[in-house]
Amino acid sequence: MQESDIKANLSLSNDQKSAEFPVYKGTEGPDVIDIRKLYAQTGMFTFDPGFLSTASCQSKITFIDGGKGELRYRGYPIEQLAVKCDYLEICHLLMYGDLPTKEQKEKFDNRILRHNMVHEQMHFFVRGFRRDAHPMAIVTSLVSALSAFYGDSIDINNPEHREISAIRLIAKLPTLVAMAYKYSRGEPYMHPDNSLSYAGNFLRQMFATPCQDYEVNEVLERAMDRIFILHADHEQNASTSTVRLCGSSGTNPFAAIAAGVACLWGPAHGGANEACLDMLEQIQAQGGVEKVGEFMEKVKNKEAGVRLMGFGHRVYKNYDPRAKLMQETCKEVLQALGLENDPLFKLAMELERIALEDEYFVERKLYPNVDFYSGIVQRAIGIPKSLFTAIFALARTSGWIAQWNEMISDPDYKIGRPRQLYTGPTKRDVPDIAQR
Ligand code: ACO
Repeated sequence: MQESDIKANLSLSNDQKSAEFPVYKGTEGPDVIDIRKLYAQTGMFTFDPGFLSTASCQSKITFIDGGKGELRYRGYPIEQLAVKCDYLEICHLLMYGDLPTKEQKEKFDNRILRHNMVHEQMHFFVRGFRRDAHPMAIVTSLVSALSAFYGDSIDINNPEHREISAIRLIAKLPTLVAMAYKYSRGEPYMHPDNSLSYAGNFLRQMFATPCQDYEVNEVLERAMDRIFILHADHEQNASTSTVRLCGSSGTNPFAAIAAGVACLWGPAHGGANEACLDMLEQIQAQGGVEKVGEFMEKVKNKEAGVRLMGFGHRVYKNYDPRAKLMQETCKEVLQALGLENDPLFKLAMELERIALEDEYFVERKLYPNVDFYSGIVQRAIGIPKSLFTAIFALARTSGWIAQWNEMISDPDYKIGRPRQLYTGPTKRDVPDIAQR
C-alpha cells in the first residue's frame, strides 16, 4: 500500500471531535481512507451494511473496473485468459501470482491429477443423504468433510500444508460434484481418468458409465473449461468475503471453503444461474418470445419481487465481460449440438435486446451478468439446473483458496470482527414470569 499525500479529515458538526486519516493508493481502482484508528480517536464506528463503501482487505489477485466492465486476474484481462489459457493455468496464476511456464504447467497439472480421487470412505458418507437432496447440500457437507479425511494438511501456519490443501481442493472438487450428481441418479461413481484434461475428466465423471466407452466432445470440453475460467475469481464478493472471514478465525481451509460454498448457494449470488434458467423456462411455458413484453412490465413494476435474473451486478455498471464470453460459448455449443434454434437462447437474446434499450434498465445501469447465458450452456451440455451452483463452487474454489492463502500469509492479518449500530432495548430488568 502506498500512502497518498492527501489526508482525509473528519469533523463533526457539533465541533466536538475531529480526526485526520491517511489515504492509501492501490495500483488501480479507488483510493481508500484508512479508518483503523477511527474508534480510538473518536469513539465512533463507521456504518456500512452490505459493504457498499468498504474495502475489507488489500489484495493482489483480481481487479474489476465495474464502470468500464473490465475483469483481470493478476493483471491479465479475462478476454485474453479465456482464449489463451486453460483452467489449470488460471489456478496456477491465482495461487502463485503468475502464469506457469511449460515445465511448471506440466508439473502443476500432474500434481492436480495425482489428487483427484477421494477417500473411498467418502462414498459411504454420500450414501447418508436422501437421493433427492439438493447437490449444494451434499457438496457443502462433502467439502467440510474433507477436513476429516485429509487432516494431515490442516496446519494453517505451515505454507506446505496450505499448498497441499489448495491442490487437494482444486483436484477433488470435480470428483465431489460428479459424485453428488451420480448419487442423485442412482448411477455408479466414475473414477477420474488421468489421460483427460481437467474439464474433459469432469464431463466423463458426470456422463460416462462403466458399461461403455465415453468420448469427450471437444466443444463441450472447451465450454466447460471456459465456465471454470470465467467463474474462478471475482475479488471480494459475498462468498469470498465469507471464506476470508471464516478463515480469519484460524479454522482449517476445508471448513473455510465449505462456508464459501454455503454462501454461494443463495439466489442473489451463485444460485442466480439456476434462477435465471427457471425464469426463461417459465416465460417459455407461458408463450415464449411473445410474452417477453408482459414479463418486462412485471419486472419494472417490481411485481412481487420479480427481477430479471442474470441482470444487474453490485460492481458491474456496464456489460459484465464474462457475459460476452459466455454468449460466445453459448452460440458455439448450441451450434455443435445442432440446437441453433434453441427457444430459450432466442428468448434470452430477446430479453437482452429489450432490456438494453429500456429506460428502466439503462437508468439503473443493469446489464447481463455471467449467469444470463451460463445456464443455457450447461443445460445444452446436459447438466441439470440443480447442479449449476455446485459447478460454480467447483470453479470458484481456486479463487477462494488463493484469497484465503493471501490472507493467512499476510503477517498483519487479524480475525475479522465487524462492529454494529445497536438499536435494541436499553438495559432493563428481567420481570418474574407471572409479571410478563
Ligand atoms: N431486475 C430488475 N431490477 C433490478 C435488477 C434486476 N435483475 N437488479 C437490480 N434492479 C433494480 C433494483 O430494483 C433497484 O431499483 P430501485 O433503484 O428502483 O430501487 C436498482 O436496480 C438497484 O438494485 P440493488 O438491488 O440495490 O442493486 P445491488 O447492487 O444491491 O444488487 C444484484 C445486485 C443482487 C446482483 C441484483 O442486480 C440482482 O438481484 N440481480 C438478479 C440476480 C442475479 O443475476 N445475480 C447474479 C449476480 S452475479 C454472480 O453472483 C455471479
